[in-house]
Amino acid sequence: MCMDKALLEATAAALVAPGKGILAADESNGTMSKRLEGVGLESSAEARRAYRANLFATPGCEDAISGVILYDETIRQNMDDGTQIPDYLTSRGIIPGIKVDTGTIDLEGCPGEKTTKGIGAEPENGWADLGTRCAEYFAMGARFAKWRAVIKIGDGMPSDQCIRSNADALAQYARICQDADLVPIIEPEVLMDGNHTGDKCSDVTVEVLRKTYEMCEVHGVYLPGTLLKPNMVIPGNASTVQSTRDQVATSTIDCLSLSTPRAIGGIVFLSGGQSDEDATAHLNIMNAGGQEWQLSYSYGRALQAAALKAWAEDGAEASQAAFAHRAKMNSLARSGDWDISLES
Ligand code: 13P
Repeated sequence: MCMDKALLEATAAALVAPGKGILAADESNGTMSKRLEGVGLESSAEARRAYRANLFATPGCEDAISGVILYDETIRQNMDDGTQIPDYLTSRGIIPGIKVDTGTIDLEGCPGEKTTKGIGAEPENGWADLGTRCAEYFAMGARFAKWRAVIKIGDGMPSDQCIRSNADALAQYARICQDADLVPIIEPEVLMDGNHTGDKCSDVTVEVLRKTYEMCEVHGVYLPGTLLKPNMVIPGNASTVQSTRDQVATSTIDCLSLSTPRAIGGIVFLSGGQSDEDATAHLNIMNAGGQEWQLSYSYGRALQAAALKAWAEDGAEASQAAFAHRAKMNSLARSGDWDISLES
């Protein structure tokens, strides 16, 4: 296998181009059903398609959205006029991406902890092995991929085994994607759930990222052809001491400086349950400081929550307007030019 390093680098650079970031619309069918039901709508393949097709058709969104991460169901679906979704996105100058992990499973010997699967074939679930799927997705127009690992902070957690297992899987995934000329987004998410402090989140995130890049070296991952999708450094959502926005921004940059190679193609944060405005404000402060990586977004909830609510309550145009607004706000935060007064 021989990866096209120039193509990988060019794709990574386009995904973190100035003023642009990624829309994570790759919720699995189970998660997307919960999201739709959460706003009072029934879920079906057609309901998921209709909501997402409307989102992707938002006028002007290509100014703020460089790429969209799709789910296996969505990459095979069509826009309202019958155009295949990946072809439609490409025609708008938006790069189609694909979630390739097949979800989490309990980690043996580590109660309460998870690892992510998706490398081997799972005939019982209809999944071919990762290399085969990557080749098929590339042929369908995808140029990047995503794999999410989840790390939980708690009593005795994360264990060394959990960190090692997830880092190894992320690195193996990244190498397989690159061999198929897909840019891997490496997403080791340290969850916000719990009552831990911001310092604890920072320590765990540093350890997880260091181990992930150690395993990337072992598996021969070409770092300039990768993107990192990390959590920000935030106290647990049940912690009694919350951080200011400036503290989140500073400790996130400190954490990345201690753990993340300069050579990677860029950083695209996840929103992880932050409010829409917090996710924008944190990114804005980090970029206002001027950083050594391209710092951008790959938000799911923080780009879609308002759009989903509007879809249920006020219809297609309102949903597009809500999405366009959040996309614009995050595009401005990409260069430190967002301001709270722009929200109203
Ligand atoms: P959130 O921004 O909602 O955390 O979603 C991003 C994502 O892709 C999670 O895997």
